[in-house]
Amino acid sequence: MNEILNAIKNRRSIRSYETEQIDQKDLDLILEAGIYAPTAHNDQPWHFTVIQNREKIQYINDKSKELMSKSNVEWIKNMGINPKVNIIYNAPTLIIVSGRKDAVAPLVDCSAAIENMLIAAESLNIGSVWLGLVRFFFELKDEVEKLGIPENYEPYYGLALGYKADTKNLTAPKRNLNVINYIK
Ligand SMILES: Cc1cc2nc3c(=O)[nH]c(=O)nc-3n(C[C@H](O)[C@H](O)[C@H](O)COP(=O)(O)O)c2cc1C
Repeated sequence: MNEILNAIKNRRSIRSYETEQIDQKDLDLILEAGIYAPTAHNDQPWHFTVIQNREKIQYINDKSKELMSKSNVEWIKNMGINPKVNIIYNAPTLIIVSGRKDAVAPLVDCSAAIENMLIAAESLNIGSVWLGLVRFFFELKDEVEKLGIPENYEPYYGLALGYKADTKNLTAPKRNLNVINYIK
């Protein structure tokens, strides 16, 4: 298998990180991979907020969990009230990906950028995980305002990055392969 296919297949969601910060050069390559994703109408309707301040990342975790603990969805509530849970897994870098609201397909474009970044990270042996649960933090409009996201952009997802702390048991969740049909 070639390197790209290897990175795609070997990438796993990493949920345990070293405290050491990742190399700036690697981070630049990962962000560049995001920026090279395809976009509808070539809009490139994204913005990346790179947070490398431990207290700020912890604060985003704490605030997200506060809201999660009030969720009607049982598993989300349980995560919210569990003091052992850190929804960013104490990763040293958190990237918030925001999309320009008036673009043709900003959520799809940003998702393509996130996937490119996950694969780029794996190719550099850097761990990553796509974070949907930080969306709870995005409900706090006053907090989002402090992130310096450009006017007319909205935050969609987070992406944690860091060196993998625990590479044991990194088997891929079983994939259902019965999802293809051909019309020839
Ligand atoms: C839109 C989206 C949101 C996700 N949110 C989270 C999250 O908040 N926390 C988390 O640990 N994993 C999150 N994941 C990662 C998935 O749980 C993971 O991709 C899936 O279990 C398959 O495992 P793999 O990434 O190792 O192949 C998210 C993935 C996607 C695509």
